[in-house]
Amino acid sequence: MILVTGGAGFIGANFILHWCAASDEPVLNLDALTYAGNPENLRPLAGSARHLFVHGDITDAALLRRLFAEHRPRAVLNFAAETHVDRSIHGPEAFVRTNVTGTFHLLETARAYWRQLNAAEREAFRFLHVSTDEVYGTLGPDDPAFSETTPYAPNSPYAASKAAADHLVRSYHHTYGLPVLTTNCSNNYGPHQFPEKLIPLTVVNALAGRPLPVYGDGRQIRDWLYVGDHCAAIRSVLRSGRPGETYNIGARNERTNIDVVHATCALLDELAPAPARGVRDAQGRPIERYAGLIAFVADRPGHDRRYAIDAGKIGRELGWRPAETFATGLRRTVAWYLSNPDWVDKVQSGAYREWLGRHYGEEMR
Ligand code: NAD
Ligand code: TYD
Repeated sequence: MILVTGGAGFIGANFILHWCAASDEPVLNLDALTYAGNPENLRPLAGSARHLFVHGDITDAALLRRLFAEHRPRAVLNFAAETHVDRSIHGPEAFVRTNVTGTFHLLETARAYWRQLNAAEREAFRFLHVSTDEVYGTLGPDDPAFSETTPYAPNSPYAASKAAADHLVRSYHHTYGLPVLTTNCSNNYGPHQFPEKLIPLTVVNALAGRPLPVYGDGRQIRDWLYVGDHCAAIRSVLRSGRPGETYNIGARNERTNIDVVHATCALLDELAPAPARGVRDAQGRPIERYAGLIAFVADRPGHDRRYAIDAGKIGRELGWRPAETFATGLRRTVAWYLSNPDWVDKVQSGAYREWLGRHYGEEMR
């Protein structure tokens, strides 16, 4: 079986759903169920013998040792992390704890387990660490996209904690020979993403007539990848990636934030017109077009201006290519949120509303 950490979160859950649809190999899913972990994401697998959920923390070394001994995974895929840059600015400690210390304990446990495998099992074992393009820092308008050899220059506590984890992973290959793989991916979007990130936040706020917060001038650029394409890329790295190597994953979909928000609003205008739904803004006025809710707000401190990924290596070596364009992926995503209002209602729990109030101020709630 494979051990997936953070499998109740956005990308981990999409990965497990894809995995179970494509393979008979069981998945052991270890997740601490923080605010971002949502067992609802895995509801299609309820009752499946191929998905075993364990509620636990990757910083719990004793639990990790027990799970490795009992389940003898042939691979570990580490998705578990604190992932929201804004939260890392308000409270970086949880990021160091999970992203750095948690990854360290996972590596240590994997190393001890891997050492006592027989030669064939040792050869086949993989530790795949899921990371981000944010470790590379920020780009100027004409800089080339991040490649696997771009020096690390993380700018937020989130990015720094992921960079630290990536370095530990690298060192376990170099020092101990552990067969590790690291993937550095650009911004994901798609079903099941927690509505604190830009695209789902825009969708759920627009439908509720709340302001759509755009930081600073909205001209920051991100390189967007549909989550299903990311999951396919991870599967191909697990299958055919060379141990010790890193692979950048992206789809060359560079967009400014304001363009992303406008594109999302335009899809909502088409698929769920505000007048037909009777959407009203915070002042009780009826809404014609969702873009009328856009509100420019204070910029994020240390906000990276531009990310862009050169995914040439994974294309050349493993033949991976994204299947979705930004237009098709965004349409699927908006359609998913519209057809899953129960999911949206459930994630808008007390903790989430509290966070929005703290971060954006009362008017954004
Ligand atoms: P997410 O925040 O949606 O989910 C994270 C999951 O990890 C949650 O289910 C949470 O409960 C779990 N978790 C947190 N701390 C844990 C702990 N100590 N022990 C066990 N489980 C814990 O994150 P996501 O967007 O799905 O990201 C998954 C991975 O992909 C992360 O490592 C992230 O850095 C990376 N990544 C994300 C993006 C993106 O755009 N979302 C892009 C590139 C890379
Ligand atoms: P986000 O989804 O938080 O991902 P990341 O910070 O990891 O790139 O943000 C994507 C971009 O959108 C980023 O430049 C910050 C910006 N943003 C806003 O303008 N308003 C918002 O409310 C949020 C959450 C993000």
